[in-house]
Amino acid sequence: MTKIRKAVFPVAGMGTRFLPATKSIPKEMLTLVDRPLIQYAVDEAREAGIEEFIFVSAAGKGALEDYFDTAAALETRLKEAGKTEALEALAPTRMKEGALTILRQSQPLGLGHAVRQAKALIGGEPFAVILPDDVIKSQKGALAQMVDAYADVGGHMVATMDVARSETSKYGVLDVCSEAGRLAHARGLVEKPRADLAPSTKAVIGRYILDGAIMDRLANLRPGAGGELQLTDAINEDVDQIGVSGFQFDGQRFDCGSVQGYVQATAAFSLDRADLRDDYAAFVNTQPQGLRLVA
Ligand code: UTP
Repeated sequence: MTKIRKAVFPVAGMGTRFLPATKSIPKEMLTLVDRPLIQYAVDEAREAGIEEFIFVSAAGKGALEDYFDTAAALETRLKEAGKTEALEALAPTRMKEGALTILRQSQPLGLGHAVRQAKALIGGEPFAVILPDDVIKSQKGALAQMVDAYADVGGHMVATMDVARSETSKYGVLDVCSEAGRLAHARGLVEKPRADLAPSTKAVIGRYILDGAIMDRLANLRPGAGGELQLTDAINEDVDQIGVSGFQFDGQRFDCGSVQGYVQATAAFSLDRADLRDDYAAFVNTQPQGLRLVA
């Protein structure tokens, strides 16, 4: 089985749910506790063994490139000032030589269109796709869990999560034909089905491991739900030839593309930090709104 070495990070979306913040800050640079969302995604990819990072970006998102570039002047100053802790905090932002490629999607025509920009760089091998606004809090990284499972099944694999039936219209949903442990074998995928038409409540979350053949599907893809080129539609076309499985990851997922999900993630990640937890809980408990956090 080929090792999964490459990951595509689609970061070209407009982030309209986060306006006005995203007028001048890329959504992926919004900060969860003390790191931008993109850092969580890159860390998860590294843990899964990814060596090549491909950002599909867009105009106005230069802050993402700068973030992973060397900040020579800053580093020199920190060194001179003996601020070793601050210097160490920069370590995850360093990319190995040649490991990061940044492409541009000229128009936000959908996730399928974004992924297909990476065709030449993928070169036919299986690869991962990570949506940085889906943040997954887990012991072992969600993508690393998927890479382990993928070694046995191959084909296309999507991360899944059970959602309330009333929520299916917000997600791609799996049509399941059989299940074994965390794996579900799919006979199809439907993008944003109405609750009464959803084939299951297994929603597709923003982690994928795709056979390189998906690029040919994406090349001929027609617009789907919302008039966008949908990645799930391309995956759906391969259910018979390539095979599609859903992997129910172990972890808690936050939709950091929505304000509600982002605020919840901020609370969950703050409460998880030994250096913040007590202060955070005490602060919330003294708020006039009368909320109570029990540690
Ligand atoms: P979203 O559906 O969250 O869209 O995209 P968005 O534009 O980022 O945000 P809203 O809905 O306007 O608030 C899911 C993921 O796909 C990427 C986004 O960057 C995000 O990571 N994407 C989406 C692209 O890269 N290009 C696209 O054309 C569409």
